[in-house]
Amino acid sequence: MNIRKKILALVVLVLACMSVIPGIVMAQEYSSKGADSCLGCHRSAKWSVMGIFNTKHGSRVDPDAPFSNLQCEACHGPSNEHRKAKDKAEVKPTITFGKESIAPVSEQNGACLNCHESHTGAGWFGSRHESVDVGCSSCHNVHADRDPMFDPVEQQETCFSCHPRTRSDTYKASGHPLRFGSMSCSDCHNVHDGNNDFLLTADNVNDTCYTCHAEKRGPYLWEHAPVTESCSLCHDPHGSNHPASLTKRPPLLCQQCHSASGHPGVGYSSDDLDAGSSNARYLMARGCQNCHTQVHGSNHPSGSSQIR
Ligand code: HEC
Ligand code: HEC
Ligand code: HEC
Ligand code: HEC
Ligand code: HEC
Ligand code: HEC
Ligand code: HEC
Ligand code: HEC
Ligand code: HEC
Ligand code: HEC
Repeated sequence: MNIRKKILALVVLVLACMSVIPGIVMAQEYSSKGADSCLGCHRSAKWSVMGIFNTKHGSRVDPDAPFSNLQCEACHGPSNEHRKAKDKAEVKPTITFGKESIAPVSEQNGACLNCHESHTGAGWFGSRHESVDVGCSSCHNVHADRDPMFDPVEQQETCFSCHPRTRSDTYKASGHPLRFGSMSCSDCHNVHDGNNDFLLTADNVNDTCYTCHAEKRGPYLWEHAPVTESCSLCHDPHGSNHPASLTKRPPLLCQQCHSASGHPGVGYSSDDLDAGSSNARYLMARGCQNCHTQVHGSNHPSGSSQIR
């Protein structure tokens, strides 16, 4: 056999194999009638599919929306063989979503990013969620009438399913009004942007806080070093059982960094007992703040000790 005949034989063999085991060797094709060929079966209430027509994705006028394009298969990939197959569980659409899917998470996300890379931005790539294989569909529910991410309470519930400790923080005595739905995680976090620390909406912790607590930005004549460094050195943004969402209660909060020398750090010392007084003013009531009221910084000419 000359080389041409060998190649021909090989091609014939490959084609023969493909027709014997379709769907494995041969990639699926797009169906010719789009959504109509799917909805014959998937319209029924057994599948919660129809909600999508009440969302922006369901639009027939937006030229960029799925239903102006490949319709169901814009996300699920070519699915003609699934449509035709006897055993639907065996031959699924090219892309299904969730834990059971055989498509890797990057491929599932790719189906969304085809259209959304400009919305989520390049920041998604390498972000914490991307690197631990969290899918777009772990948070978004595109078949629901209303995506849970746009409802402050439903959004939190979704996050809590993977971040249970944050849930318990939001039930603590002080902090942000998250559990009442007056704020949501996305007021501080932009989960699509891994370029910012902790997936925050701004570059770092302080810039995020300043968007609402602008007065804490200063500038101050006398800054307090830790405030300039990071609000979360003293505050837990998700909630705490100390007043003002503090990580610890003064004086302990302050004494993590400031030694007790000069200022007594114990309630009673032998000197006090002799003199019949106590150090209570340093430690009781508002502790250090009985005198150091301007913990975030002072603008008084003699406020170097944050007393006025
Ligand atoms: C003749 C009925 C029928 C048609 C037509 C049909 N499907 Fe299905 N589809 C099914 C059945 C039955 C299942 C459930 C298979 C199983 O048991 O896992 C299913 C499952 C699915 C799933 C879920 C797979 C999973 O495991 O998450 C998706 C997504 C899907 N179909 C999309 C489509 C799309 C897109 C079309 C149109 C191109 C389509 N289907 C056409 C009957 C149909
Ligand atoms: C914008 C992308 C997108 C489009 C368009 C889309 N789907 Fe889906 N579909 C998904 C995602 C993501 C899931 C996984 C569940 C979820 O997060 O909503 C899913 C899940 C499903 C399921 C499984 C639902 C279940 O109850 O287990 C079926 C069936 C399905 N889609 C069929 C369809 C059909 C039919 C169409 C066209 C009418 C369609 N999909 C259009 C993204 C899409
Ligand atoms: C064929 C292109 C296309 C695909 C594929 C696609 N989308 Fe969209 N999506 C759109 C368009 C267009 C809009 C409307 C944008 C607008 O009006 O701002 C949109 C809007 C959205 C919105 C905002 C909804 C709102 O109410 O504001 C979310 C969230 C979203 N898509 C998530 C997803 C997810 C998750 C996937 C993958 C499962 C996906 N999209 C796949 C085109 C697409
Ligand atoms: C950890 C949860 C989470 C993941 C994972 C996630 N999103 Fe989002 N997404 C959100 C939240 C929360 C919002 C709403 C932000 C707001 O309040 O405006 C949102 C909003 C959106 C919007 C509409 C607003 C906009 O930015 O234009 C689009 C589009 C979107 N997401 C697409 C995606 C795509 C594509 C992926 C996967 C690559 C993805 N999302 C992954 C939580 C998530
Ligand atoms: C499907 C599970 C899942 C969901 C849903 C989810 N996350 Fe995550 N998230 C993770 C995992 C896993 C990590 C990485 C954990 C780690 O680093 O210890 C993570 C990490 C984070 C981080 C830390 C990022 C960093 O740079 O250290 C933040 C912030 C975060 N998630 C916020 C959210 C918010 C806000 C939501 C809801 C809009 C959400 N997550 C929904 C699984 C999830
Ligand atoms: C007031 C702003 C704010 C709000 C609202 C907020 N976060 Fe955060 N979050 C932060 C800051 C700041 C950090 C970084 C913490 C640090 O510096 O130690 C963070 C860190 C995280 C982390 C990673 C570190 C950790 O503590 O495990 C997760 C996960 C997280 N947030 C989830 C959430 C979820 C879920 C919600 C909604 C219920 C939420 N956050 C609401 C500001 C906020
Ligand atoms: C989207 C706006 C917003 C952002 C961003 C924000 N906060 Fe707040 N913060 C609020 C609101 C609103 C309250 C008032 C809550 C109340 O009165 O119940 C508050 C209250 C507080 C309180 C007082 C809590 C109490 O129980 O007395 C502290 C401390 C605080 N924020 C710290 C921070 C820190 C630290 C950050 C940055 C990680 C931050 N905030 C980011 C809106 C915001
Ligand atoms: C050195 C510790 C420390 C740091 C760092 C710190 N705070 Fe505070 N913060 C406190 C203490 C202590 C209180 C309680 C004040 C009181 O009882 O009057 C407080 C109270 C607050 C309050 C509620 C009362 C008020 O003054 O409005 C807000 C809001 C607040 N801090 C925001 C911030 C922000 C934003 C940052 C970062 C720029 C920050 N804090 C950094 C110690 C700190
Ligand atoms: C995370 C560490 C940290 C915490 C917590 C902290 N501080 Fe400071 N504090 C500093 C640093 C650093 C300086 C700057 C010291 C310097 O410039 O030599 C400083 C400066 C001061 C000064 C001015 C010192 C001077 O040189 O005149 C006072 C007063 C002060 N802190 C009081 C407090 C009080 C009150 C608290 C509790 C509400 C507190 N600090 C919590 C780190 C901290
Ligand atoms: C009864 C009022 C009062 C209380 C309560 C108080 N301080 Fe002071 N503190 C002062 C005065 C006044 C100065 C200024 C001393 C000076 O300028 O020489 C000062 C100065 C400081 C300084 C600057 C360095 C130094 O030693 O001179 C630090 C740090 C400090 N205090 C920390 C604390 C801490 C931490 C607490 C709580 C355990 C606290 N203070 C409670 C009155 C007080």
